[in-house]
Amino acid sequence: MPKKILFVCLGNICRSPLAEALFNHKITKRGLGSEFMAQSCGTGNYHIGHPPDPRTIENALKNGISISHLCCQLTATHLDSFDYILAMDSSNMSNVLNIDNASENRHKIVLMRSYDPLGKDQDVPDPYHGNEKIFQEVFDILDRSITSFIETLVE
Ligand code: 4NP
Repeated sequence: MPKKILFVCLGNICRSPLAEALFNHKITKRGLGSEFMAQSCGTGNYHIGHPPDPRTIENALKNGISISHLCCQLTATHLDSFDYILAMDSSNMSNVLNIDNASENRHKIVLMRSYDPLGKDQDVPDPYHGNEKIFQEVFDILDRSITSFIETLVE
């Protein structure tokens, strides 16, 4: 059974779909595609069924990553069925921890940047109201955090 990783943000149209795509890209490149599977979702319900934000898609493509995803909302079932749940910021983290069955799954829920070698335990900034520079900053943070997360998974 592959290990299941869930990336969580608020809208599921900027940060977490990019995290999912980066994870899948890196895992496939390492020939580990059958050992892990990643998905993403949002704590909010604003964009359910929608594709990612065009600015996220464009920035990812500029960096050689293609994203294919439709927005979905986090449910209690996700917490039971995934092995690792990575929240993009502390607000997403508290939203996850407010889900009914979070306490029995507490050990699975961590901040994405706890894996960032350059900035532990900080937030991945929400780029929704930001400019191109923030989208690139989010890309760079996720790129290195996910590389380091994968290192811990394969250790
Ligand atoms: P995300 O960014 O959580 O990285 O997907 C956001 C996208 C949409 C909204 C907020 C954050 N929104 O309020 O619609």
